Amino acid sequence: CMVRHYKFNVSVISVFTLIDFRGPTLYAREDDTVLVKVVNHVKYNVSIHWHGIRQIRTGWADGPAYITQCPIQPGQSYVYNFTITGQRGTLLWHAHILWLRATVHGGIVILPKRGVPYPFPAPHKEVVVVLAEWWKSDTEAVINEATKSGLAPNVSDAHTINGHPGPVSNCASQGGFTLPVQSGKTYMLRLINAALNEELFFKIAGHKLTVVEVDATYVKPFKTDTVLIAPGQTTNVLVSADQSSGKYLVAASPFMDAPIAVDNKTATATVSYAGTLSTTQTTLTIPPPKNATAVANAFTNSLRSLNSKKFPAAVPKTVDHNLFFTVGLGINPCPTCKAGNGSRVVASINNVTFVMPTTALLQAHFFKQKGVFTTDFPANPPHVFNYTGTPPANLATTKGTKVYRLAYNSTVQLVMQDTGIISPENHPIHLHGFNFFAVGRGIGNYNPKTDPKKFNLVDPVERNTIGVPSGGWVAIRFRADNPGVWFMHCHLEIHTTWGLKMAFLVDNGKGPNQSLLPPPVDLPKC
Ligand code: C2O
Repeated sequence: CMVRHYKFNVSVISVFTLIDFRGPTLYAREDDTVLVKVVNHVKYNVSIHWHGIRQIRTGWADGPAYITQCPIQPGQSYVYNFTITGQRGTLLWHAHILWLRATVHGGIVILPKRGVPYPFPAPHKEVVVVLAEWWKSDTEAVINEATKSGLAPNVSDAHTINGHPGPVSNCASQGGFTLPVQSGKTYMLRLINAALNEELFFKIAGHKLTVVEVDATYVKPFKTDTVLIAPGQTTNVLVSADQSSGKYLVAASPFMDAPIAVDNKTATATVSYAGTLSTTQTTLTIPPPKNATAVANAFTNSLRSLNSKKFPAAVPKTVDHNLFFTVGLGINPCPTCKAGNGSRVVASINNVTFVMPTTALLQAHFFKQKGVFTTDFPANPPHVFNYTGTPPANLATTKGTKVYRLAYNSTVQLVMQDTGIISPENHPIHLHGFNFFAVGRGIGNYNPKTDPKKFNLVDPVERNTIGVPSGGWVAIRFRADNPGVWFMHCHLEIHTTWGLKMAFLVDNGKGPNQSLLPPPVDLPKC
């Protein structure tokens, strides 16, 4: 293994310019140590999160502002120093403060250790494909508008594939991303959803996609026409260039199972076979309708861990902490809100709307600083929850900076139930510092008596971000083997802003190498 040094300069690129504004892809190998010096050249505070990197004992390098570090102030820098332990695949990095990740994001490619093959035939070529959103106005203005009015923000003005809305879009003149292929060869696309607020379908005309990995964990390969990918998720697919020639449209379109906002912008790109004439017509593809819940469910239900001898699924078989969290949106009074008739949209987990601290939680924890957070995050909802399709009477939330405390190496089963209120869409929940196994999923109310009997404890998919289905639930399991403070939140940025977030505090273990390491000397101060 080796040590890789990177330097990221965070700088402003006009959001009006339709150019490929992604940041660089970070390449590494499993077990490498990575040092990224991030230099802040903008007028905003920034921090960078390496989404999905486990950061074993190095929470200081995880990146969420005010959770594991104070932000890097304008003119300052910070070196993120971490070792990639036992992970290989595609992940993403992104700014983790306010809405800056709209434009400050990029891919992470972790190759297997030298000489170790993929558990599938090696592709001819690999391509990172970043799906994102594009806004005409500055995202800072968009978020300010949303928080002041109490209502949802403007939807984005376009989706993008590798920085471009594409040849078939409202910005058609801008061309788009083209993937050149040779007939008979196989390509691996490393798909990343870096969008702020939308789950996306991904499809290529005339080609099947073979899914081989999600969130940097191998899955049992399966073929599909359409991939569903939520913000924060990554998916590796193999595409066989099994046509002889021609141009084929690639489409990334939003999924929301009962749309309330008008937002139907499909981003497009082109797969172009070598030798195809420039005048050849592109074969179009019809993306699934926005509310194609059946397509979304079929994809989700096909995901299984590879669970091979080399890559066994280490699903915890026993449970120390049995948690049930309701996740969802609600309405709270807001006399000062300009719009929204004196009320505002809030979001919560177990009726707690998380309040961001002004000091990083991890620092407060490490230095035993009192008064920054409390450890009384409820293991169960304070009101009995019953999803009937109509809003229950328990929408009111309390505010707090509450964490849930876990003993080192304890096992957790967490059922997350969507309240189905206001916004009928999946909540892609991301847990920092861990991968988890998605052992169960259902629509309607979770039944603690009957549903656990149906859990898959053999080969459930392992990932770091999972959609809690609209009006339904998912059950995940993980082992708390990483000491520190770990954020968990909805990866729809607007929901995070509204408070759909909490954190786990994992204690140090007693053995060697079971404690959080001390903070680096250049850790930013608040
Ligand atoms: Cu990709 Cu806490 O985020």
